[in-house]
Amino acid sequence: MTPEEFRRAGHELIDWIADYRERVARAEFPVMARTAPGALREALPKSPPQAGEPFEAIRRDLDELILPACAHWQDPRFFGYFPSNGLPVAVLGDLVSTGLGQLGLNWQASPALTELEEVSLDWWRQMLGLSERWSGVIQDTASTATFVALVCARERASNHGAARGGLQALDRPLMVYVSSQAHSSVEKAALLAGFGRENLRVIPVDAQFDMRPDALASAILEDRAAGREPCAIVATCGSTATTAFDPLTDIARVARAEEVWLHVDAAMAGSAMILPECRGLWDGVESADSLVVNPHKWLGVSFDCSTYFVRNPEFLVRVMSTNPSYLKTSADGQVKNYRDWGIPLGRRMRALKLWFVIREQGVARLQERLRRDLANARWLADEVARAPRWKLLAPVRLQTLVLRHEPPGLGGDALDEHTQRWAKAINESGEGYLTPAIIDGHWAVRVSLGATATERQHVIDLWRLMRAKAEEGGK
Ligand SMILES: Cc1ncc(COP(=O)(O)O)c(C=O)c1O
Repeated sequence: MTPEEFRRAGHELIDWIADYRERVARAEFPVMARTAPGALREALPKSPPQAGEPFEAIRRDLDELILPACAHWQDPRFFGYFPSNGLPVAVLGDLVSTGLGQLGLNWQASPALTELEEVSLDWWRQMLGLSERWSGVIQDTASTATFVALVCARERASNHGAARGGLQALDRPLMVYVSSQAHSSVEKAALLAGFGRENLRVIPVDAQFDMRPDALASAILEDRAAGREPCAIVATCGSTATTAFDPLTDIARVARAEEVWLHVDAAMAGSAMILPECRGLWDGVESADSLVVNPHKWLGVSFDCSTYFVRNPEFLVRVMSTNPSYLKTSADGQVKNYRDWGIPLGRRMRALKLWFVIREQGVARLQERLRRDLANARWLADEVARAPRWKLLAPVRLQTLVLRHEPPGLGGDALDEHTQRWAKAINESGEGYLTPAIIDGHWAVRVSLGATATERQHVIDLWRLMRAKAEEGGK
């Protein structure tokens, strides 16, 4: 592609994306892809073209093959999983990042990449109401951030055992504590960091699905008495299924007394902390050792952009740093080298899209949108609470509802089948997208609001659709 051809194709593609966003906002597509498994694979050539193809052919396939196989996360009727908003300005930030082709191996390889990340993360820290004691770094996902946190916890507890015999040389197994509501990425991180499933303690929750600090304290005492070494607690602020908030003040007290690392997973709900009225939900966060918040969820910075904050970067750097001679520069003593703040050496310029979003939106507009979503969730929660045979199964702390339609006389497996049937009927109708989840051993449905295009009318329409599909038994 010559620069001129790039300009032409690029303009066309920006138009294409803008048209797509308009069509999605007008709800022109079925929210869930109607593609049969394997259909796209079949439709694509089995081997690469020998000669290059005209860009028009690629673009045509975008419309004819790729688009029909997409689920539309930006659709106003998307209420599945969690909102994963990519504001148009974030798309532009991503484009510039790729267009500049920067690679942050160290500060010198791209001073702009490093220093823009420092500044944007400091803005973001202030927006979240966190004190100056926190320093941040952008990771790809919360899964990676939690993995990094557990590796740091492991190294602290073993006095940097990785530099000697590693976990295998320890005479006491290191323990990790999570609640039953923790995201699956926490278990994965603990297993990958070498703790072993047997050393992962699942702490019971209370009626609101929040971790019980008394049960945590007892589990730690029990482990110590049995010769095991408590190492890390992962508390969740805004669990995926139930929006549980583990009580950080009490948990931090236990963590401090027992000298255990406290990592906070606020991947989804952290964005709510740009609203001062929500910050009571994570009271005690200042006492944690590390924290992850994903601007690539509700806030609107397109995937992927996960922010990881630590209280003591010296410790993180000691665990993560490698310093081969070809990466050493004379600036090293004066600058941050983010390769020592995580796993990858090469880093993308993800800060651009965060910076674009914060500048174009301003804090006030971001707050306004999140407050709109909270009000929509409260409206729906009131409707569900008032409706006969409908039940809310968890407190509505933010923008996610967990609910069930319970027709008289239906229980156990029959109720589970009913729940899955009506949720499936909605998803297959193309008029909405919801995700069922197992809560306390039985199927429920999560309604997760917060797509940028979702207005009150879409929530009213969803409620009508839910009642219609559930009350006609998922037909
Ligand atoms: C509470 C929580 N933690 C972690 C994750 C994983 O996020 P990521 O996809 O960034 O790894 C999610 C995503 O659903 C989440 O809701």
